[in-house]
Amino acid sequence: MTATTPPDNKTADRITEQSIRMLVDRFYQKVRTHDQLGPVFESAIGKTDAQWAPHLERMYAFWSSIMLASGRYHGNPMQKHKDLPTFDEDLFAIWLTLFAETAREVHDPPIADHYIDRSKRIAETLKRGLYRSGDKDGNLTG
Ligand code: HEM
Repeated sequence: MTATTPPDNKTADRITEQSIRMLVDRFYQKVRTHDQLGPVFESAIGKTDAQWAPHLERMYAFWSSIMLASGRYHGNPMQKHKDLPTFDEDLFAIWLTLFAETAREVHDPPIADHYIDRSKRIAETLKRGLYRSGDKDGNLTG
């Protein structure tokens, strides 16, 4: 890196409401244009930015509750995902890869790894609820 390298998009490696918005916005930009994930989200949420705004707001609140313990999120992700038309379990691996990639674009390893660890654990809980019987009420934020 030289003195003339333009600043990258990393925050001052802190988690703030602003850095959460940056991460979530970037992540769902990738999701929306992904050939396999895009259609699942588009049929549930829609195509336009106006349709996406409420989902993004919920996701800022969700990650704020997870990473900053802000208590901003009130919802039931397990039920929301159960209510979606069935989608292939393999999509979770793609979701997690895009999420990890985005976390690393926005943050240095200690914080990026924290996000990635939480995302993996939540994905496991969701998968158990969605695809395996007998464990339907996993606690997602605990
Ligand atoms: C392949 C994997 C996934 C797919 C296809 C998927 C799809 C979706 C869709 C379509 C919605 C919008 C539902 C609606 O508004 O009707 C949604 C909501 C949500 N998703 Fe996922 N999701 C996936 C994985 C995850 C993971 C791993 C997490 C957490 C780490 C997550 C967290 C959430 C949350 C918090 C909401 C908002 C629920 C609410 O409305 O309160 N999702 N997801």
